[in-house]
Amino acid sequence: MRYLILSDLHANLQALDAVVAAATGHYDQALCCGDLVGYGANPNPVVEWVRAHCSHVVRGNHDKACTGLDDLEWFNPVARHAALWTQHALSPDNTEFARQLPKGPLLIENFELVHGSPYDEDEYVLAVDEATQAFNYLERRLTFFGHTHVQGGFIWNRSRVETIARTSLRCDSQVIEIDRDCAYLVNPGSIGQPRDGDPRAAYVLYDSDASMLTYYRVEYDVAGAQKAIRNAGLPDILADRLSVGR
Ligand SMILES: [Fe+2]
Repeated sequence: MRYLILSDLHANLQALDAVVAAATGHYDQALCCGDLVGYGANPNPVVEWVRAHCSHVVRGNHDKACTGLDDLEWFNPVARHAALWTQHALSPDNTEFARQLPKGPLLIENFELVHGSPYDEDEYVLAVDEATQAFNYLERRLTFFGHTHVQGGFIWNRSRVETIARTSLRCDSQVIEIDRDCAYLVNPGSIGQPRDGDPRAAYVLYDSDASMLTYYRVEYDVAGAQKAIRNAGLPDILADRLSVGR
């Protein structure tokens, strides 16, 4: 089975459109690690695409906050502004869909989906020590996660945990061959708001028969997404950061 793994779409329709255009024909099933909404200006079309095309989706912290499942006290003022705007913008059907998304981990075939970490859906796995702790909770040797908006992840090679760097700025993709004796925490990166210094939208294709996964980056209409954010009256910083991927 060939899987398309998406995460942290954050209501960025322009970025999602570019990913769909690039990935169509190369996958059999689409999966999502959460944060469909929040920050971006097009929550309804993004949720509707996920509803129509993703077989499995775990909820993200913004999916909870933007549908009233979580209070906003842990959100900074910009994220809170965007969450309140999204609460008003989302249609009742799309709000209900996002509210009913399951908490990870979600087991699919021989791997898992989580939003943050396997032991806490809201926890950030950014560094090797956090990943080392997360590996202790894995039920399978391959887990896809999001939340950090940083493409890459971690490999446990039986003796230690190593970092998988994001795809180089000079490349569009990088391939990882899955070693059955190792374990993997794989972050496809963020579609809607990358924070790893590369403004291109990020995703992963995983071929479970071939035991291969490929990280991708794809350019998209950043100016269009920024214009939509400004026209919606959302904070300027949410538009500005898309240019730099920070
Ligand atoms: Fe996110």
